[in-house]
Amino acid sequence: MRLTVLTLFPDLIEQVINESITGRARAAGLFSLKTIQIRDFAVNRYGKVDDACYGGGTGMLMMAEPVYQAWLAARAETPDLPVRTIHLSPRGKLFSQDMARELAASERPLVLLCGHYEGIDQRVLDEIVDDELSIGDYVLTGGELAACVVIDALLRLVPGVLPAEEAYTRESHMDGLLEYPQYTRPAVWHDRKVPDVLMSGHQAKIERWQSSQAALETLRRRPDLARKRPLDEAEWADMLARRREEVTGQR
Ligand code: ADE
Repeated sequence: MRLTVLTLFPDLIEQVINESITGRARAAGLFSLKTIQIRDFAVNRYGKVDDACYGGGTGMLMMAEPVYQAWLAARAETPDLPVRTIHLSPRGKLFSQDMARELAASERPLVLLCGHYEGIDQRVLDEIVDDELSIGDYVLTGGELAACVVIDALLRLVPGVLPAEEAYTRESHMDGLLEYPQYTRPAVWHDRKVPDVLMSGHQAKIERWQSSQAALETLRRRPDLARKRPLDEAEWADMLARRREEVTGQR
């Protein structure tokens, strides 16, 4: 996976991605990430990259030309491959695990464009952007944190980034359900016991318990997701049995 981020705050991106799992994966060469400072393409020697909006308003807007020149520099990194340019914006399509999967599978190098101030001149967006993505219905001070979220979600899908394949095949959102509850030592903590089934050593039973818990948690917490991923008959039966146990305390 090849990623380039166009930003006024490259250190922010570098610091986040160089930590922990993504940092180790980067050091191991499992992906390439380049940050391009848009200010390096400023329109004057004072580093000017923004200007007042036509039509009034108090805020400043990022100018088309520095963004365009930064994008040309990103594109020049892979002259043989067309880039796919993603603008992080609260106006964008809501980012999801499905999109993460689709982008992670993309052959094209990804260029992530982060806006700041009041945004970016629409003309350069019209010229270079393929997709606009939002990470949620709230407004951040800039696209950088959103870019980090998107990059993190993509990188953990790159083979070798996570320790075991299982870690990203069986978990929240991957099969349209939320993750089941998990427990580690000690077996009793603050008078709370780990569910007996997990101590039983009976792998088939454990897996049925986990998938019914996933279904139950999804219906409870995110009925909107549950509607998108209907349960099959066996899942319904397991889930209802689990619920009955919870209510009656009986197997
Ligand atoms: N830039 C500012 N707010 C954003 C959001 N919610 N998602 C993506 N980019 C943004």
